[in-house]
Amino acid sequence: MFGTMHPRYRHAAAIYDKAFPFFSFGAGPKIHEIVARTVVVGDGGTVVDVGCGTGLMLAMLRERVGPSGRVVGIDLTEPMLDRARQRVSHGGWKNVELHCADMTEFDPGTEADAAVFALSLSAAEPAATFHHTLGYLRPGGSVVIADGIPARGRWYHPAINAYARFRAPLVGSDLGRAREIERLAHEHLEDVRTRVIWAGLYTIISGRVPRKGG
Ligand SMILES: C[S@@+](CC[C@H](N)C(=O)[O-])C[C@H]1O[C@@H](n2cnc3c(N)ncnc32)[C@H](O)[C@@H]1O
Repeated sequence: MFGTMHPRYRHAAAIYDKAFPFFSFGAGPKIHEIVARTVVVGDGGTVVDVGCGTGLMLAMLRERVGPSGRVVGIDLTEPMLDRARQRVSHGGWKNVELHCADMTEFDPGTEADAAVFALSLSAAEPAATFHHTLGYLRPGGSVVIADGIPARGRWYHPAINAYARFRAPLVGSDLGRAREIERLAHEHLEDVRTRVIWAGLYTIISGRVPRKGG
């Protein structure tokens, strides 16, 4: 799939940054802020922004790894990456690299400390991506996933979930896959934490790669 594009995002790049706050009901910037704050990575670390899109979260991730750290953005859709490239070049960010690659195949070359998925895992193949990503993260490495996982437990969640179902084909997410993400995280990560935000429209899941033998 290298060099191909996600069909839904081929034409989305031109309007993505402006449409994102609208489709997310204003949650977009908050999602990036929470993901970047939640990921566990120190100065000099490497974090992979999987399905980085137009690069809206790159600046926040750069702050987490500091000048000696490395931010690796990957995305399958060239027009989305072109916007990210403009951001990197405009900011003069030397420690951000961008790759056009499928998240189920991408190889960062070295072990990474963390991987983040902002609204990207449900747009791809969650199981294949999960297993592949865990293969290049160090034991104890950090994973943070933000996605539109249907919420349960509050009286208003059915209405929120109905809106999410209506919106799914427009934003390229798949609610069945979103549920699968929850399962995968609990099966394959340690210290899993779940935070439901924006009245249940989005969920942030974080955890750590199990340490070998642990
Ligand atoms: C909803 S956008 C999210 C972009 C960005 N993470 C953000 O928060 O603004 C989903 C992104 O996932 C990318 N994507 C979908 N399937 C992919 C795959 N198999 N490999 C790499 N990127 C993929 C799309 O090209 C798109 O840019």
